Amino acid sequence: MSPVRFLTGITTTGTPHLGNYVGAIRPAVEASRRAGTENFYFLADYHALIKCDEPARIQRSTLEIAACWLAAGLDPERVFFYRQSDLPEVTELTWLLTCVTGKGLLNRAHAYKAAVDKNLAAGTDPDAEVTAGLFMYPVLMAADILLFKAHKIPVGRDQVQHIEMARDMAQSFNHLYGEHFVAPEAAIDESVAMLPGLDGRKMSKSYDNIIPLFAPPAQMRKQIAGIVTDSRAPGEPKLVEGSALFQIYQAFASPQETQALRQAYADGIAWGDAKQLLFERIDREIAPMRERHDALVNNPAELEKILRAGAEKTRGLARPFMAELRDAVGLRNLAATAQGAAKTKTSRSALPSFKQYREADGRHYFKLVDGGGRLLARSAGFDSPQQAGRTIAQLKKDGPAGLEADLELAGGVDAAEVAAALAQLAQAQ
Ligand code: TRP
Repeated sequence: MSPVRFLTGITTTGTPHLGNYVGAIRPAVEASRRAGTENFYFLADYHALIKCDEPARIQRSTLEIAACWLAAGLDPERVFFYRQSDLPEVTELTWLLTCVTGKGLLNRAHAYKAAVDKNLAAGTDPDAEVTAGLFMYPVLMAADILLFKAHKIPVGRDQVQHIEMARDMAQSFNHLYGEHFVAPEAAIDESVAMLPGLDGRKMSKSYDNIIPLFAPPAQMRKQIAGIVTDSRAPGEPKLVEGSALFQIYQAFASPQETQALRQAYADGIAWGDAKQLLFERIDREIAPMRERHDALVNNPAELEKILRAGAEKTRGLARPFMAELRDAVGLRNLAATAQGAAKTKTSRSALPSFKQYREADGRHYFKLVDGGGRLLARSAGFDSPQQAGRTIAQLKKDGPAGLEADLELAGGVDAAEVAAALAQLAQAQ
């Protein structure tokens, strides 16, 4: 069986913090060791440009994030670990996708809509301060994903819409140019903890409540001392519910250790002592990684080498696929055109196929042809290519039952022949 492909992008703004570690880095490094999977991790530095116009910060953040992932145990030999901007194929594919993406689809993206709503509320131009980069964000992200035919994308809920848009783009492209892309799915891990920050809200750079993952120990101790608690005195029983300190501890501790702290709360442990326990528990997990992290951050040339090797390895997949896509859309060597077309025909000749097209009436149609190119059936007209595409998908999956009204048999063809062709397609999937 071919492996399931997982792909994760990390935007390179900011310094990784404990919340990133618990919520993303640690589970991803564990996942990278699963058998039967292929894993892609990349530094989304093109995405970073959308939010950040400070070059030094982009560079620094890329360095720190790369060092964190490697220090946390990601093995670049075993996975695909690379920097987005090292792959020209990503921007190249972004353009091909841009040309099959409805502007209306992008109008509905949450991040763009939120910016517009904010402007409307402020009474300014709806697109004030909105860059085309923000608007195009979902297309760039779809290119990241589709370029590697990734199946599963581990993301937070805020990113699910982007994965759905990538699916839409894959489908639009496939309907126009043949089956090139795999439709990706969001993978949401409910078991991963959401870590509270210093103030008890979700740990996030935008709340300014983070604890950096690889702060020097003295600084981490000081920050842990700043976690909000209530004013219960030493000796007074404490509540674990709503205690940020307890939740952070739990994200690092074994069930037994967590149980012991729960008991200590009930027994009235002093907040200062609980914070000391928390610091020690985190440090036990982080200290061994800190050394590797610091070594990498202090030797950027070594990191650069690792990233370039990762890019070369990854481009080994991206280059030939991009060549296939360029050919599919007609960006071709002129001298080779005739040959290429002939080849495509023979290689596809074994199976029946659907062809989508648009008529002068403005409506969208498809036809079904057999392996030799003979017309079997034609569809009724649809309002959108998506509707036509959905009908094709259903025919491929379930056969003609219930869809007879949408299909007009070609002269000399009977229904059994169409059913047989669809069965052949269903089998080939
Ligand atoms: N948009 C993602 C985020 O902000 C980062 C990202 C960029 C990404 N490209 C991706 C995530 C592709 C998954 C797949 O978290």
